Amino acid sequence: MNPNDPKISLPELVSALSDAVDLISPTLNSHHKQVTYISYKIAEALNYSHERLTDLITAGLLHDVGALDLNKRFELLDFEEEEPYLHTISGYVLLRDLKIFEKAGEIIKHHHRSWEDGAGRFYRGDSVHLESHIIYLADRVAASTDRRAEVLNQVEDIRKKIKAQAGSRFNPRFVEVFESVSKTEAFWMDLVSPDLNSRLKSIWKRFDRQLSLEELLEVTRVFAKVIDFRSRFTAVHSSGVGAVAETIARKMNWPEKGCLKIAIAGNLHDLGKLAISSRILDKPGRLTKTEYNVMKTHAYHGYYLLDKVDGLEEIKEYGSLHHERVDGSGYPFQLKGAVLKEGSRIMAIADVLTAITENRPYRRGMEDEQAMRVVEKMGLKAKLDPEIIALVRENYDEINAVRRKAQQQAAEEYRKFEKEIHFTRNYYCY
Ligand SMILES: [Fe+2]
Ligand SMILES: [Fe+2]
Ligand SMILES: [Fe+2]
Repeated sequence: MNPNDPKISLPELVSALSDAVDLISPTLNSHHKQVTYISYKIAEALNYSHERLTDLITAGLLHDVGALDLNKRFELLDFEEEEPYLHTISGYVLLRDLKIFEKAGEIIKHHHRSWEDGAGRFYRGDSVHLESHIIYLADRVAASTDRRAEVLNQVEDIRKKIKAQAGSRFNPRFVEVFESVSKTEAFWMDLVSPDLNSRLKSIWKRFDRQLSLEELLEVTRVFAKVIDFRSRFTAVHSSGVGAVAETIARKMNWPEKGCLKIAIAGNLHDLGKLAISSRILDKPGRLTKTEYNVMKTHAYHGYYLLDKVDGLEEIKEYGSLHHERVDGSGYPFQLKGAVLKEGSRIMAIADVLTAITENRPYRRGMEDEQAMRVVEKMGLKAKLDPEIIALVRENYDEINAVRRKAQQQAAEEYRKFEKEIHFTRNYYCY
């Protein structure tokens, strides 16, 4: 890794993704972190190796990443839905292709398996990692903890409930260890603390892994899938925006590192959309004023989620300001003129150009030439940067070809994803 490169910590980054996923409702706030905290305490007491702990933390932070529908998340929290396996498989399929997430993906695949006196070590030809059983237990503890009520009043009931299911539902050894690590009141206070983040930060430090820009690009490709695959209408959006933004930057002779950063920013530009309910994202019609106001918060959330990760400053600027407009009419900061850096201006153009060529529930995507004209019009009104637009016009065929290729590839992956989920539904559930 080049010493001048920004240093991005993998657990910090993954934790920002988990925050994004939990922003969808105040009730779910910190769920992933709570599960990670409990799992970590159990595995640490069992002297798990550094490597196993690292994968367990990643799995804990992302375990419900496949359940991105709000109702689904509530179902998983309140009572266990009859068939919880689809979200576990979705999470697995989203993560498994990247080496760094491979083991976490496998852990997530079976994080709702009961122990069944040991039979839960295997499932239909898969051997189930013990870590999956730890997360299962931690998840049930977290879900049983009501944050609106005094936590210490709940401890006895929760511990009793878990103990009663030792052997049948939970691995008895893990129940034993849980009983011991949850003996202190501080354990429970940590769990519901608004400052759980700082408790976890000291853990991240021990499991830090610094990513190079190239690795960061790979990791954010997975994030882009998590963001985009929630809706078939946006399934290839971030891939398109990233490819267009990177190509524009290359045409403007940006240095190599800058081009990588803007590609990464493209993958992350809609990160805050994870906080928006699919009812709004997938609404088969134009949004009402209120819905549109909710939608606007994605740019705000995206900005502050990336703000938590050291080293992402430039990437955050390029990615999260894609709805700002040069004339100050954008959102959410209403930035204007020269305050908007070139990277943010490129991203704004890449986003519009890509979005209007895509189908939405309420309209068909525009043809290439029509899309280019819409962007040019926005340039005339000083909403988007006219100089960059002129360069895009000059190279439009090439930029468009790159966008198409990136989006075709993403569409192929989305089809694979859907097929696998469909197959799983038939295989595991019926
Ligand atoms: Fe789950
Ligand atoms: Fe969960
Ligand atoms: Fe956006």
